[in-house]
Amino acid sequence: RSSVIVAIDGPSGTGKSSTSKAVAAALGLSYLDTGAQYRAITWWMLTNGVDVSDPEQIATAAAKPVIVSGTDPSAPTITVDGMDASGPIRTQEVTSKVSAVSAVPEVRTLITALQRSIAAAATGGIVVEGRDIGTTVLPDADLKIFLTASPEARAARRSGEVKGSDLTATREALIKRDAADSGRKTSPLAKADDAVEVDTTELTLQQVIECVVTLVEGKR
Ligand code: C5P
Repeated sequence: RSSVIVAIDGPSGTGKSSTSKAVAAALGLSYLDTGAQYRAITWWMLTNGVDVSDPEQIATAAAKPVIVSGTDPSAPTITVDGMDASGPIRTQEVTSKVSAVSAVPEVRTLITALQRSIAAAATGGIVVEGRDIGTTVLPDADLKIFLTASPEARAARRSGEVKGSDLTATREALIKRDAADSGRKTSPLAKADDAVEVDTTELTLQQVIECVVTLVEGKR
């Protein structure tokens, strides 16, 4: 089949987004950043007075914001109630709160349904990146990749992205977020049994992209 569905999962700082966008662009596929959706719902809650330390408030508010993702890998977009949210979802405040929001089952049910409908509409094929894509969202994906890297490499990449950030603080925040994402009850960050694991610690971004492109081509 030509409309290949690719699931790319892994912890933060492994190069998931850069790899997924580049692979989708190289192969003419759509692209979906599912982390951006969890960030968007978190941003909406923070700006609408929802106490994100209270899972009941999160569950009640979960269906209120309308989240729309644009799936062009060269210019992915995300809007919340029609407003561009691509800037605000990358703030440290959102990053530090997103794991608490994404752990709430009602949030996951809604966002998972949204992700499945976007994947189903992408008739030319799609690369979907996240934490639970291979295990939960798209268990029948044609190819599942699980990206890993040492904590040092992941922290170094993240602090390279975030201006003026301190390496030790970045490393600690990243480890804390991954522990929360891996430890939650509902669809935790996990490698699917049939996923191909790629350790990116010693690889350049270009090498990871080439590796994944080759794997996708093998499925088409
Ligand atoms: O990938 P990114 O770092 O933008 O993801 C932000 C957060 O969204 C993750 O730390 C996690 O809490 C949540 N997430 C998730 N499931 C996904 C993608 C992201 O729970 N499929």
